[in-house]
Amino acid sequence: MRHPQHVAIIMDGNGRWARARGLPRSMGHRRGVEAVRQAVRAAGELGIDYLTLFAFSSENWRRPKEEVDELLGLLKHFIRRDLADLHKEGVRVRVIGARDDLTSDIRGLLEEAENLTRDNQRQTLVVAFNYGARDEVARAMRRIAEKFAAGEVSLDGLTADLLDEHLDTAGIPDPDLVIRTSGELRLSNFLLWQSAYSEFVFLPCLWPDFDRQAFEDAIAEYASRDRRFGGLSREIAS
Ligand code: IPE
Ligand code: IPE
Ligand code: MG
Repeated sequence: MRHPQHVAIIMDGNGRWARARGLPRSMGHRRGVEAVRQAVRAAGELGIDYLTLFAFSSENWRRPKEEVDELLGLLKHFIRRDLADLHKEGVRVRVIGARDDLTSDIRGLLEEAENLTRDNQRQTLVVAFNYGARDEVARAMRRIAEKFAAGEVSLDGLTADLLDEHLDTAGIPDPDLVIRTSGELRLSNFLLWQSAYSEFVFLPCLWPDFDRQAFEDAIAEYASRDRRFGGLSREIAS
């Protein structure tokens, strides 16, 4: 079967990885960044055009301030340290999620990453930061309502495609494969609309332990699936 064009990953289990070693949760997040670097590299080598990484959810603000600050700090550190390398490797960076409640220094870094890498073509890295699918749909809905009120969109024009075009992921193909680490069997508000026909692979391993082999195994699992999109399987149809 085909290769996934777009793989999206819910990177979960940093805290448990640290706890299992008697370390503070922050150490799990730091090791998680190493796993991010490996995953981006592996995706490039495996010919995956789009890799989306769920880095911080719109609900993660509920965590203690100390941990939230650590995660925001790691994002800044990652962009400052890795942006030049990503650019050199031909990676285009896109960021999805709500920008308005982020501080201006983080917003500036995210814009810098997107602007610098805008024309790169080898691989797209989509960073889901302060991202929640319900919030994304609500923001899209508000933008569409403004256009509707201004007479730029008619009632008949309110289609699924129009919503697609107003989501943060506009122009990005739907994920073929969604992977979640850490053994949790839920989506936690990730790409709810876009994953309508995605294949799911849930792995027991904790995110800092996710390596090239785990990535390849998940892709092999994907390749064994029969995607029907509501139609008939290829064997029956032919
Ligand atoms: C994933 O690891 C990182 C984020 C959600 C930001 P967690 O921090 O959720 O780790 P666990 O689930 O507590 O082990
Ligand atoms: C999902 O993980 C969010 C990210 C990986 C960024 P969580 O750890 O926040 O999800 P829940 O709370 O277990 O559902
Ligand atoms: Mg978690």
